[in-house]
This record gives sequence, structure tokens and C-alpha cells, in this order.
Amino acid sequence: MKLLNLFCVIAGLWRMLSASRSCPDLVIDGCRCTSERHMELSRQTVRVKVVCSGAELMDTFQPSFLPNTTVSLVLSHNKISLLKNCSFLGLSYLERLDLKNNLISTIKPGAFRGLAALRRLDLSNNRIGCLSPEMFEDLANLSKLNLSGNIFSSLPEGLFTHFLSLQVLYFSSESLYCDCHLQWLLLWARANAVRIGNGTPCAYPTHLHGLEFRSLREHQLKCVGPLELPLFQLIPSQRQVVFRGDRLPLQCTASYLDESVRLQWSHNGRPVSTHEQSGILVEESIVHDCCQVTRELILSNIDIGLSGHWTCLVTSSRGNSSQSMEIVVLETSAPYCPAERVTNNKGEYRWPRTLAGILAFLPCLPHPFSTPQHPSVPREKKAWRRCDRMGRWAEEDYTQCAYANEFTRVLYQFSQMVINATNAQVLAQQLSAFTNRAALFDDKMDVIFVTHIMERLLRFVDRIQDVCWETTYRTWPVT
Ligand SMILES: *[C@@H]1O[C@H](CO)[C@@H](O)[C@H](O)[C@H]1NC(C)=O
Ligand SMILES: *[C@@H]1O[C@H](CO)[C@@H](O)[C@H](O)[C@H]1NC(C)=O
Ligand SMILES: *[C@@H]1O[C@H](CO)[C@@H](O)[C@H](O)[C@H]1NC(C)=O
Ligand SMILES: *[C@@H]1O[C@H](CO)[C@@H](O)[C@H](O)[C@H]1NC(C)=O
Ligand SMILES: *[C@@H]1O[C@H](CO)[C@@H](O)[C@H](O)[C@H]1NC(C)=O
Ligand SMILES: *[C@@H]1O[C@H](CO)[C@@H](O)[C@H](O)[C@H]1NC(C)=O
Repeated sequence: MKLLNLFCVIAGLWRMLSASRSCPDLVIDGCRCTSERHMELSRQTVRVKVVCSGAELMDTFQPSFLPNTTVSLVLSHNKISLLKNCSFLGLSYLERLDLKNNLISTIKPGAFRGLAALRRLDLSNNRIGCLSPEMFEDLANLSKLNLSGNIFSSLPEGLFTHFLSLQVLYFSSESLYCDCHLQWLLLWARANAVRIGNGTPCAYPTHLHGLEFRSLREHQLKCVGPLELPLFQLIPSQRQVVFRGDRLPLQCTASYLDESVRLQWSHNGRPVSTHEQSGILVEESIVHDCCQVTRELILSNIDIGLSGHWTCLVTSSRGNSSQSMEIVVLETSAPYCPAERVTNNKGEYRWPRTLAGILAFLPCLPHPFSTPQHPSVPREKKAWRRCDRMGRWAEEDYTQCAYANEFTRVLYQFSQMVINATNAQVLAQQLSAFTNRAALFDDKMDVIFVTHIMERLLRFVDRIQDVCWETTYRTWPVT
């Protein structure tokens, strides 16, 4: 154990020493630096490797922070989103650059300038949609490129003209569209003896889904057949019920497969354009990351006339596709039942403002000591009330709810009991004792329940003795 500790300390010291000697300027949190010495033609060379993986980096740091003898730089699993012009200038010995699992969406022209010795570049699992040959200037010595796991669906012709030594290329993507726009790549790869790596399957069109790009023949890469959009969505997509005067933005987004893709809005089948008096504003289309196009439609001060079906239509050289949603505009004067407070023998219920034709529900009020009738069924008990088509409160039902008054609640329970010859006497005595204070009779239901119980008790009247009915009923106002 002691020996192991000592070994660790020594190993740590050695690493620090070698690090400080090879990377004197490396002061970036989360980076590790290692170096190897090589004898080459009786001359000592240092090969420095820098690993800054999972270091929460938002940006590539100044290349001058690294020793110019760095041969390997790993910046994977960070939060880098942009590669600026000359991001790595000065690292003229760099052979491997790993930028996988970042958030890179933009690579400026000349980003890799000065990396003449670079042989392996990993840009996989980023958000790259726009690609141009200028991004890859100076990478004449690159032999392996991984572009997999990005958001492009195609690669522009001539993209790899700066690569003179490329041997292997990976470019799988969830939306890779294997059509005539990728024919050039097959020809170029063949002419330049570039191997398309295994693990680069087509995603679209459906009949080529899952097939390796490398195994395709030129004639399979066609631009015929129906338009298939990897992405096409309308927000909101569900029917919207709005009040007159409201504002509602609608957003349509689709894959930007090629320059012929256009988005148009229509209302009940007729194309719409901006019309300020009607509160219709159709925004310009915006292309994001060269692979998605969005067009927004903003409806403001909505009038009844804007009810109906709103459609986003994608047109392209290969065909059209559309998606619709419905808007229902209600008059602000649409009939509704006013909010109302109802107090009855089940408690106090506050009914909210409710649209005509709608059944409103409220949960039953909880009462202390009230035992649920069916404890095994935990279903929430509710009262309901209908608002009719004219906006007047109509039928209502509180039967699921318990009586608010404890006296009524107990009488209700009495009334639910089975009365037979055995228990009639006892029940009669209990009822008599319970009801002997007239002041407690507060609800007409109390009288109804007592009458109901009495009727059933009277069937056993010959057995009921010595029960003195002292109760004097109050006269009940009939409502
Ligand atoms: C690398 O840096 C050292 C000094 O740190 C310098 O002497 C040398 O010329 C540099 N080499 C290159 C290729 O820039
Ligand atoms: C990139 O930077 C270099 C030198 O800093 C400059 O000469 C070149 O014009 C820049 N390129 C672009 C496209 O900005
Ligand atoms: C390019 O790679 C070859 C070996 O594949 C190497 O000899 C040459 O020095 C490299 N070029 C640069 C500029 O590093
Ligand atoms: C390329 O990147 C993808 C995604 O990170 C990965 O699955 C694949 O193994 C990589 N290919 C190579 C040869 O490194
Ligand atoms: C696509 O829509 C455009 C514009 O509405 C129309 O001119 C064209 O004929 C449509 N194409 C197909 C194949 O439906
Ligand atoms: C009367 O009802 C009670 C309670 O329901 C029961 O326990 C009793 O057995 C019944 N007696 C007769 C005679 O049915």
C-alpha cells in the first residue's frame, strides 16, 4: 500500500515536471499535456499531446497558448460553437485534431489555415449544416475526415477540392439524402481513390434507407419520385381556439433540401400574403444552417374571417407537400354563463365563467368526518353544471357530493341502513335520541330523510315500544 502511494506521488511529480517543461504556457483548466521524446536522425524531437476533453470550453483558445510542437489536440466533448478564421494558426506540426461532440455550427473560411501536417480531423457529432470548400483550406495532407453526426442532408459539389491526400471519409447523418445532388461525390471518390467509410448509410429517400453510400451505383442517385422531407413541422400543429382580437403566430419549418424549396402560406386553400388591415403578416423565409427553412405567419387582432384552415405548402422541383391546422375564432361576445357562487346543502361552490354549450365540473368539497361511500374507488367526486347554448346556467348535479351539514349527513346514513325486525327497536331509539332537538332541522332533506326512515320503521311498529317521539317538527317553507 505504502509502496503504491509512493509510486503515485512519483508518477504525479514526473507528469508535472514533464508538463511544465513541454507546455510552459498551458494554463487552461481541464487540459492535460503529455510529451514524448524521440530520436530522429540523431536529433531529439518532442511530440506534445494536449487533451482538453469535457473541459466546458466555449471557444478554441489562442494557438499560441500551445507549444508549437503539439502533434495531437483533443478538444472533444466541449461547448465550442464557432471555428474562426485561423483558429489553429502556428500549430504546423499538428497531425490530429479531435473536435467531436461539440456544438459547432459555423466554420469560417480558413479556420484550419496553417495545419499543413494535419492527417486526421474529427468533426463528428456537431451541428454543422453549412459546408464549403473554403473551410478546408490548407488541409492538403489530411487523410481521414469524420463529418458524421451533423445536421446536413447533402454535401455541395467540389467540397473536398482542397484535400489532396484524403483516404477515408465518413459523413453519416440522420437526414442524409442520397439523390442526384450526391452523384458528384461517388464519382469524385472513385477518381481520387477515396474510400467512403463503412457506417455512412443513406437516410432518405425511403427506398435507399439504411443502404451504405459506398455500395450505391450512380444510377441509384436520382432526383425523381415524391418529395420526402426529413423535417416538416407546423407550430402550433393542433387546432387553436382563440377570441376575436387575439394574436397568434404560426411557424412552419422544413428541410432545405435544395434551392428550389419554397414555403408558402394559404388560408382555406387561397395563398395569403401580408395584408395589414386584416392583421396578416407573412414574414420572409429564413434559411438556417443551410439545411432548414422557416417561414412565420403572424395573425394579430384576429377577426372572425380568419377562422378556418391554415396551410403551409412546401414547393420544390421534386414536388410539393403541405400541412394544415385549424383556427376557430370566437366572438368576444360569444355567449357564456357568468361566474356564480352557489350555496346549497352540499356546501359553497364557485362556478367559473363558462362558455355556452359546455358542461362545467367542480370537485366536491371535502367535509370533516364524512366517510367516502366507496373507499375502494378513489375516483374524485364531482359536481357538474351545464351552461346552455344561450349562455344560461341549466341542469346541475351535486349527488356525488356529501352534505355539508353533519346532522344531515348522519340522517342520510340512517336512511341508507337496512331495517329489519332485529334492529328496528335499536334504530328507533337512536333516531329518537338524535333528532330530539328541533333546532337542528335546518334542511328540507332532514325532514325527507326522517320521514323516509319513519315509514320503514312503522312496518315494525308492533315491536317498537317505549320510544317517545318528542320531536316537534318545524313547519317547512316550501320553495
Ligand atoms: C517553435 O517555437 C520555438 C520557440 O518556442 C521556436 O524556436 C521555433 O522556431 C518554433 N518553430 C516553429 C516551426 O514555429
Ligand atoms: C483570415 O485571416 C487571414 C490572416 O489573419 C487574412 O489574411 C484573411 O483575409 C482572413 N480570411 C478571411 C476569409 O477572413
Ligand atoms: C504530409 O504527409 C507526408 C507523409 O504522408 C509528409 O512526408 C509531409 O511532410 C507532410 N506534409 C507536411 C506539410 O507536413
Ligand atoms: C465517426 O464519427 C462517428 C460519430 O461520432 C462515430 O460513430 C464513428 O465511429 C467515427 N468513425 C471513425 C472511423 O472514427
Ligand atoms: C406545386 O405547387 C405549385 C404552386 O402551388 C404548383 O404550381 C405546382 O404545379 C405543384 N406541383 C405539384 C407536383 O403538385
Ligand atoms: C338485520 O340486519 C342486521 C344488519 O344489517 C343483520 O346483522 C341482521 O342479521 C339482520 N337480521 C335479520 C333477522 O335479518
